[in-house]
Amino acid sequence: MSTRIELCNTGEVAAGSALRVENGDLILAVYNLDGEFYVTDDACTHGPGSLSEGYIEDDIVECNFHGGQFNIKTGEVAAPPCMVPIKTYPTTVENGKVVIEVDG
Ligand code: FES
Repeated sequence: MSTRIELCNTGEVAAGSALRVENGDLILAVYNLDGEFYVTDDACTHGPGSLSEGYIEDDIVECNFHGGQFNIKTGEVAAPPCMVPIKTYPTTVENGKVVIEVDG
């Protein structure tokens, strides 16, 4: 069983950037990669970094704390010191809104 959550309007996230969105217990980063939208947890798995404040290049977000990198599409670590992947969420655009599916 999964739940749909509307996070924001697509127009709130400029291409090549990310937006921090809070919804209940979730603190998320919504990314616009050339018009395709992706969502991950906002918290870096290495420490206090907020990935929505990181640097984005192609599919990679670089944490602005220690320079660790993640693949935005898969959540996999792309560069140390991060060791643990970030959680990603199935993301769609519906009627101009970014929507994710979460378990439960
Ligand atoms: S807190 Fe993100 S790389 Fe250290």
